[in-house]
Amino acid sequence: MTTISTDHLSPVWSHLTTIQPVRGHGIYLYDADGKRYIDFTSGIGVTNTGHCHPHVVNAIQEQAANLIQGQINVVISPSAIELSNLLNEVTPPHIDSFFFSNSGAEATEGAVKLARAATKRPNVIVFQGSFHGRTAQTMAMTTSKTIYRAGYQPLPAGVFVAPFPYSYYYGWDGDTTSAYCLEQFELLLKSQTAPFETAAVVIEPVLGEGGYVPAPTRFLRELHALCRKHDILFIADEVQSGFGRTGKLFCFEHAGITPDIIIMAKGLGSGMPISCVGASHELMSRWPVGSHGGTYGGGALAAAAAVATIQVMRDEDLPGNAEEQGEHLVLGLKRLQSKFSVLGDVRGRGLMIGCEFTRNGQPDASAASAVQKACLERHLLLLTCGTYGNVIRWIPPLVVNEAQIDEALHIFGEALAVVEGQSVVA
Ligand SMILES: Cc1ncc(COP(=O)(O)O)c(C=O)c1O
Repeated sequence: MTTISTDHLSPVWSHLTTIQPVRGHGIYLYDADGKRYIDFTSGIGVTNTGHCHPHVVNAIQEQAANLIQGQINVVISPSAIELSNLLNEVTPPHIDSFFFSNSGAEATEGAVKLARAATKRPNVIVFQGSFHGRTAQTMAMTTSKTIYRAGYQPLPAGVFVAPFPYSYYYGWDGDTTSAYCLEQFELLLKSQTAPFETAAVVIEPVLGEGGYVPAPTRFLRELHALCRKHDILFIADEVQSGFGRTGKLFCFEHAGITPDIIIMAKGLGSGMPISCVGASHELMSRWPVGSHGGTYGGGALAAAAAVATIQVMRDEDLPGNAEEQGEHLVLGLKRLQSKFSVLGDVRGRGLMIGCEFTRNGQPDASAASAVQKACLERHLLLLTCGTYGNVIRWIPPLVVNEAQIDEALHIFGEALAVVEGQSVVA
């Protein structure tokens, strides 16, 4: 295997593999020896248009040849303006003002600053198992695993954690779980953070790093109504669930609700670092000028990549393909679930699907990681997630087709058979 020494890369990064790809195309990565890997991680939910989509590559090349930065406090690049106009078209009508930054954590920090500045209230409510990033503010909002927080206390105050409607964890149906979690949310408002001091709730419509758990529609609607009742801003963290991933451009659309603030990143730039806070102009106008910003946000190159990404999403109906292929993938996974008892739960929306591994009703992280490893040996890259590390997440590029999903399912079936010590192959 042709590899280059990694001695001078910081050891703080965890690595799923030691693969050193030199090329990416669609759902595939290739190393220097031409070995092909099926990338069903999408670079953690980033390459929704596939690796190196020609339209995105052309846009980047053209923009790079003309203007790379165009610092937004100094000048305003046409591609940043074009991106804001395009986002205005594809987001709900009242979301008509957009702030750009570089990462999901940065956009989350921005959204919380905006909510605090606009409401003059200090606190935010997040949900158990959420992942919002690794900066100080977002660490304080992240409860998916202690690894993201341990050793960094004290973290910023004013963050309160409500239970997430994780039906499989509670062992209840969606309605019972929703009712319990809404009751706990109201209890939090009575006992820990009063509405008049609560600026916003921040929720992932599908819990990502916390285990790929879609929030039931009933829960999102009633939570949204409670926010309205108490003038608390509803912030949707669509960093992972956005840009077509769940079968709609944004996941909150499934519930028919409209957030006050949308946090976007990952799939927005097809791999170029760009994130965004979207809100109404009225709300954004309450954010004191100059109190937030950054050197690179709204730079011309990343904005051009994002414009091209949204065009591809629309022209190729990638949300539609995510819905169609997601249904096919879930059917295949459910077939495997009927053969392998270790697959406790198969759930998701579109192409954001989680397989939770359990044995005797308990999380089985070792089975999830053994299956992940056996898939990797067969050149299928899959990530795990979940507080207990026992969920395999299916998050392929949204350009994936049925034959490619079938190939991945076949590998997954083989891996399950090997790990379970069975000879059955799906
Ligand atoms: C839902 C969600 N929010 C925020 C983030 C943080 O994004 P970033 O890693 O770009 O800072 C992530 C990253 O995985 C995420 O999944």
